Amino acid sequence: IAAIAIALILAYLLGSIPTAVWFGKSVHGIDVREHGSGNPGATNTFRVLGKRAGTIVMLGDIIKGMVATSLARVLFNLDFIEEQNLVTFKLILGVVAVIGHVFSVFINFKGGKGVATLLGMMIAIHYEVALLCIVVFLITLLISKYVSLSSIIGALSFPALLLLVPRFKTNEPLLVIFGFFLFVVIVWTHNKNIRRIVEGEENKTYLIRFKKD
Ligand code: G3P
Repeated sequence: IAAIAIALILAYLLGSIPTAVWFGKSVHGIDVREHGSGNPGATNTFRVLGKRAGTIVMLGDIIKGMVATSLARVLFNLDFIEEQNLVTFKLILGVVAVIGHVFSVFINFKGGKGVATLLGMMIAIHYEVALLCIVVFLITLLISKYVSLSSIIGALSFPALLLLVPRFKTNEPLLVIFGFFLFVVIVWTHNKNIRRIVEGEENKTYLIRFKKD
């Protein structure tokens, strides 16, 4: 029981690490919350501080999701825990890390939108499906130019692929249920982006710039 509580607290604290804010402030002397979309996430770091900073923050946020989710295996490499329970526990730790990112104890319980941390969790749980989600994200971004919309569709593709692609069929219904739950969380954290998309005011990001753009 103590190990479970410790793992949950660690997952929350790891998720809470405001990579964008701490990196931006310490390395560039800039708080990304005061610029661009104001979101303390990788996308806004790319926007405000450039590719190098954005990549570092993105990797940091992905890694914290992966590590938090994998705490289960490290702490519960014990014989008494069944494989099924281990998957459930990984899912719970991943969700806690994403929630930590969104409601960070280090920045007044505000935070980012949870996308990179969710990706880290997906990689730790099912890396093949996670890779396909990245492909879906990139295709959506190429077509729509909206990172937010691509994040939402990418989040949806995780449970959708598990449910629809025979190769990924899982006998862990919780994987799909948690996947859909996290999709709803991502839609919720993007509510302002959704409003901006509808109003035609959302920032556009060009992966590849065509001349006509
Ligand atoms: O990962 C967050 C992204 O989907 C949207 O970020 O800064 O455009 O609101 P932003």
